[in-house]
Amino acid sequence: MPRPIQATIHHAALRHNLQRARRAAGDAKVWAVVKANAYGHGIERVFEALRGADGFALLDLAEAERVRALGWRGPVLLLEGVFEPRDLELCSRLNLWHAVHCEAQIDWLAAHKTQQGHRVFLKLNSGMNRLGFAPASFRTAWMRLDALPQVEEISLMTHFSDADGAKGIAAQMALFEEATRDLPGERSVANSAATLRHIDTAGVRGDWVRPGIAVYGGAPDHPVFNAAHWELQPAMTLASKVIGLQDLLPGDSVGYGSSFVADTPMRIGVVACGYADGYPRHCGTGTPVLVDGVRTRLVGRVSMDMVTVDLTPVPQAGLGSEVTLWGRAGSGAVLPVDEVAFAAGTVGYELMCALAPRVPVVVAEEPPASS
Ligand SMILES: Cc1ncc(COP(=O)(O)O)c(C=O)c1O
Repeated sequence: MPRPIQATIHHAALRHNLQRARRAAGDAKVWAVVKANAYGHGIERVFEALRGADGFALLDLAEAERVRALGWRGPVLLLEGVFEPRDLELCSRLNLWHAVHCEAQIDWLAAHKTQQGHRVFLKLNSGMNRLGFAPASFRTAWMRLDALPQVEEISLMTHFSDADGAKGIAAQMALFEEATRDLPGERSVANSAATLRHIDTAGVRGDWVRPGIAVYGGAPDHPVFNAAHWELQPAMTLASKVIGLQDLLPGDSVGYGSSFVADTPMRIGVVACGYADGYPRHCGTGTPVLVDGVRTRLVGRVSMDMVTVDLTPVPQAGLGSEVTLWGRAGSGAVLPVDEVAFAAGTVGYELMCALAPRVPVVVAEEPPASS
């Protein structure tokens, strides 16, 4: 028998979340961002549910090949563009659209021999200071691209650093509007946070929005707002079972380092899930978890293959009881991945992406039970 741990990818939730992003985006087209193997969900596993998107955005060329191998003929965008000149051959062959964020990428395009006109997204660095042309050199870059026979169409993009936070997007949006004024071409600026929080800011919709985390049911701005606030549903459930029970007396401790000490008699469930499954070791006592759909807490340290949970609120629980580490329980109760991530001092993105290869994954087609 395999260990009882399993991840489930919920197609109905993916469809719902994509639709939610589309509703926010109005007339804009929607890139479903599927980088990092669809945020850990698996490109092949999410594809059917997300094929209602207008395009797929990612950054690994091998992942772009996988999207094409699935039969997708629509737009595919490489968010970081190409990494070396020969990548352009694949762009030509598979008709991949690609970001252009630096002079070297324009040089490579200029030297690229192709009959295939390339569609490029010229990227402005509007303040994130990762990738993109500075506002002062943006127009020159656009003119260089426009003069190349290899380039068929130029779109314009930027990426926000603070769409999820107090600083917001106003300054970056103003820079983008200024730098792109009078330039033709489609625009794309909004990630999930901008699509959900700032969609009424002029220019944010643009022609394409680029939601990632929202598609997978994570709130882009947790803990300010949660997924339920944004009407998002978890697309991934990580579930396991109770494989051991311990009755503690006051003064008994649990796990490595004896970090949790019982102060009353209590029953502990030992769960087949640990950091080798992708559950964060930084989750400490108090991290929420569902047992048989009932909310309780982790106690003691996370170890490689096990966690220990307080069964006080679930006296009927026993060996084989269902444990939901994040996502949706059989009862329909939901534990947002963002809450678990918050307890570990990180974000839901990281937990989704870190699901370990040893965890078996199944796809559920049916709509999730309502909570
Ligand atoms: C350029 C770009 N656009 C869109 C996204 C999607 O962001 P999010 O998952 O926050 O919606 C990302 C992700 O980091 C990105 O790098």
